[in-house]
Amino acid sequence: MENLEQVHLQVKEIFYPPEDIKKECIVQDYESMYKKSIENPEEFWSEVASQLHWFQKWDKVLEWNFPYAKWFVNGKTNITYNCLDANIEKGRRNKVAYISVDEEGNEKKLTYGELLEQVNRLANGLKSLGVSKGDRVSIYMPNTVEAVISMLACARIGAIHSVVFAGFSEGALKLRINDAKAKVVITATYTKRRGKKIPLLPIVKEAIYDLDFVKNVIVWDRDRELEESEFSKKFVSFEELIKTSSPYFNPEVMDSEDPLFILYTSGTTGKPKGVLHTVGGYMVNTYLTTKTVFNIKEDTVYWCTADIGWITGHSYIVYGPLLNGTTIVMMEGVPVYPHPGIWWEYVDKYRVNVFYTAPTAIRMLMRFGDEIPAKYDLSSLKILGSVGEPINPEAWLWYYKNIGRGKAVVVDTWWQTETGAHMITTLPCYPAKPGKAGKPLFGVVPDIVDKEGNSLPPNTIGHLVIKKPWPSMLRTCWGEPERYEKYWKEIPGNVYSAGDLATIDEDGYIMILGRADDVLSVAGHRIGNAEVESAIIEHPAVAEAAVIGKPNEIKGESIKAFVVLKEGYTPSAELVEEIKETVKEVLGAIAVPDEIEFVDKLPKTRSGKIMRRVLRAKELGQELGDISTLED
Ligand code: WT7
Repeated sequence: MENLEQVHLQVKEIFYPPEDIKKECIVQDYESMYKKSIENPEEFWSEVASQLHWFQKWDKVLEWNFPYAKWFVNGKTNITYNCLDANIEKGRRNKVAYISVDEEGNEKKLTYGELLEQVNRLANGLKSLGVSKGDRVSIYMPNTVEAVISMLACARIGAIHSVVFAGFSEGALKLRINDAKAKVVITATYTKRRGKKIPLLPIVKEAIYDLDFVKNVIVWDRDRELEESEFSKKFVSFEELIKTSSPYFNPEVMDSEDPLFILYTSGTTGKPKGVLHTVGGYMVNTYLTTKTVFNIKEDTVYWCTADIGWITGHSYIVYGPLLNGTTIVMMEGVPVYPHPGIWWEYVDKYRVNVFYTAPTAIRMLMRFGDEIPAKYDLSSLKILGSVGEPINPEAWLWYYKNIGRGKAVVVDTWWQTETGAHMITTLPCYPAKPGKAGKPLFGVVPDIVDKEGNSLPPNTIGHLVIKKPWPSMLRTCWGEPERYEKYWKEIPGNVYSAGDLATIDEDGYIMILGRADDVLSVAGHRIGNAEVESAIIEHPAVAEAAVIGKPNEIKGESIKAFVVLKEGYTPSAELVEEIKETVKEVLGAIAVPDEIEFVDKLPKTRSGKIMRRVLRAKELGQELGDISTLED
């Protein structure tokens, strides 16, 4: 935050949308639409929700019982009806829903009609295994259309899906399956990365071996390499289940407030929280934000490079784009394999119009040079999205110039697992300021406040809060309502505290500066300092650990750990490797520290709390700040 002035200087330039894009914008007059959403939410949201199918209309748009909200009260619907059946009714049966590609150019295309059939078959298959409304199903799958089918099949029968990113290790997977008490796990034999097969099934087997409540594991045997004997009453074939089940299924009638999914995300304690989203409000807001932020038209080809294991995948690979009847590209693999132009090759090949990715990927691809994207015809691109962390002006400009070639708009979307959908963004119809996310979306009332909840003047750093409930907000944390309530009680004034630091300028553009709490942002992924610390402590030689984030040019932040060893152990390079391996096993590769330093003791408060702030300041050569609570 030291160089905020520098940052402000960098973002002085304003970028106006090209005329042809502006003309096509679904939202032409942001100001009046926003005003209506705030002054007359009942009418605004009724109009939006009415564009979707409901088995029974809601009685009331919002019932707000601080801090608990009900949206579209007593409305009955099924999100998959709107994702699938409704599109078919609108004549999109033969329209391609997904183009699911891997790194080698293999593709699988599925039309809306085919997708509905597959989802129905798997829904029947799940029912035949005894899964019903309200049961939890964990999904540990590669980023392919089979994962989407799994999610939708759950939603079709009213089961609550809990997708676990397939990069997470056995420990992280087990914790999530156990917390949700999943009856069924859906997985695949492997996922592919950099041309290599990364096994998934063995990890699932280890994770569930002593979890008796897991009745079945559904396995997508990708290369049909499993022996007959590996299937059993418990281990069921994904493809068999689909093949032998009926293609007809009446979607479960869901109450607007019935749970849709749980998605775990890092918080400030060692245990991730199970963010719970419900059907109605999530459906309405992912529909609206996808439509307006990405300007979806009938012929739009849309590609979001996220993984279904994160909220971006849920809202903007699956639900939002399907609710808009879009053609969606999804890819399994990394952006640099088999070559660092693979993304641009696919943008060219599939004539992608909307491309949505993360700053960390942009910064990485930037390094390979401008000549890589220059080889491709990227003229189909109209909207370039960014998400996950602040986009630095340098990366913004590179994206704008070398990918959009000045003919596309960049939309920087700020939101969170908890918010379910975009909250603050540049809409394509109004000017963008590189490095600033932009203005609030419909129904969103943000403010920048101090710790006491007082609004701060423009260009002052403070805490980002949301002052009113919004349709796609999280409803609770699975099994831990007190953690949910904490979001609304952190800062006085009955506001939702996002945990981010931000500023707002004279024009109302909000700039997000990063997390205010003990949560790291590594390559756009949220990782709790405490999670990494408790993983490190699992190594038998470790007595104590403290983890900090250090600025990193590509990843945003890199992880450094300070480790105190137990009596009798001496620091060594082998120990460093062993500790890294432990973290990899417990949490997964994304959480492995880049640096480990052995120390004799950690700075603590008199009450014994580790002062990570002091470690960080020392590491970065900054002022130590207030250390009056330091033990010695
Ligand atoms: C945190 C939420 C929402 C999808 C991906 C991450 C940071 C997210 C932006 C942005 C600056 C951003 C915030 C936020 N973040 N988008 N456009 N500009 N920061 O979801 O894992 O729930 O993390 O990501 O710090 O609080 P998540």
